[in-house]
Amino acid sequence: MAQQHGPAGGGQDGPAPDLPARAPVDLGRVIAEQERIFTQRQPKSASMAARARDSLAGGVTSSWQITAPQPVWLSHGRGSKIYDVDGNEYVDLHGGYGAFLAGHAHPAIVEAVRGQVARGTHFAQPTEDALVVADELARRFGQPLWRFANSGTEATMDAVHLMRAITGRDLIIKVEGCYHGHHDSVQVSVTPDPEDVGPAGKPAQTPASTGIPDAIIRLTLIAGFNDLDSVARLLDEHRDGIAGMIIEPIMMNAGIIPPEPGYLASLKDLLHAHGALLTFDEVKTGLTAGPGGATGLSGVVPDITCLAKSIGGGIAVAAIGGSKQVMEHVANGDYEQVGTFNGNPLAMAAARAMLCEVATPEAYERIERLRARAVAGLELEIAREGLAAHVVSAGAKGCVVFSPQPVRDYRGFLDVDDRYSQAHWLFQHNGGVFLPPWGKTEQWLISVQHDEGDIDRFVANFAGFARSIS
Ligand SMILES: Cc1ncc(COP(=O)(O)O)c(C=O)c1O
Repeated sequence: MAQQHGPAGGGQDGPAPDLPARAPVDLGRVIAEQERIFTQRQPKSASMAARARDSLAGGVTSSWQITAPQPVWLSHGRGSKIYDVDGNEYVDLHGGYGAFLAGHAHPAIVEAVRGQVARGTHFAQPTEDALVVADELARRFGQPLWRFANSGTEATMDAVHLMRAITGRDLIIKVEGCYHGHHDSVQVSVTPDPEDVGPAGKPAQTPASTGIPDAIIRLTLIAGFNDLDSVARLLDEHRDGIAGMIIEPIMMNAGIIPPEPGYLASLKDLLHAHGALLTFDEVKTGLTAGPGGATGLSGVVPDITCLAKSIGGGIAVAAIGGSKQVMEHVANGDYEQVGTFNGNPLAMAAARAMLCEVATPEAYERIERLRARAVAGLELEIAREGLAAHVVSAGAKGCVVFSPQPVRDYRGFLDVDDRYSQAHWLFQHNGGVFLPPWGKTEQWLISVQHDEGDIDRFVANFAGFARSIS
């Protein structure tokens, strides 16, 4: 499953040895200095951002693009690199928020999209590529039947609807700190502030945004990650009331938090014992954690699987898969899974190329070599500088957690000082490596087009950062 590595580079779970006391670093000063360099390098981005405020709400196209010190405006991408409007080159480890395992302009994706553009980009009728994609997803994720959508949000919305449609129950369980998109039912306890989380073992139901009705928030019960007891308690308290549970099988919106051994299998058994269903949200982990996502790594096949991001090779596409019993409710029209652009031919052509030509066994071998190189390099620097940090990785994804001990749930994640991640992000950026913004919540993505030189640039920047804070 995911691999956690201790600060001394031992590769083992468990707390770090005590580190020698040292004078505290002025992180505020480090961040301010890096922000100064950042903005100096990007005058055109600054003027684009200023212009954009007149026509785009907040000056960006999605609220997550509002990042400090200023949004970076991009011009193009090629292979493992992206280029901003000021002409700066970056090794792209952002991957469009983990959606770009293919890397930029991959020849197989370019060919598939070019071919389909010329033959028609939209019919709202099925095309043969959809069959190939469904068969390949079935092989990788163990679900026999599939439907398509256009975003992760749509896929998890369908999953929640389906769990309710099948069981005739309204309540769902969601994990504190998991993100499943921006529809009402899952916009609960996503990144609650420490003062709002409620008691340990009984997490509060906290709205993640304005605009979510109270009545809907009350239908989403909250459990802790890696905490079977909190799920058992909810199932007991709401007998015959809970439709199912949705979970990121490896948490990836709180750094990376792996499931403890046996947790996912026990969760499935527990839910089934209460007539409730299990949905894995593999929007982030699908294809990136491994060829069959967290399902393949854990061997646990849930009742429903949600995919999006990397499966489209850079084109917007999502998929929802399920067992025959689950998908029967879609097949017979009991639950209407619909959408004008579902199974769009352009998206299906790209997804087919992604699955059959890009995310190949050889590509995963290459990614594994690069993952190991990155982890070893980072661990060496962490040990050399005696940082209270460790590395967690899962396939193409990984992150440095600036904490001496492994994090097992959202509460532990809250204790991690985000200023280290922000300073690290700025250091990498100014050194020509684009990590996803949002500090400690996100993780790197290695694409099939990255190479050793890209990883070495990343590690060299980390070494500079480590020296500056040690
Ligand atoms: C685990 C997970 N599920 C669902 C979503 C929503 O996907 P989308 O942004 O495509 O709607 C995200 C987005 O980051 C995610 O990380």
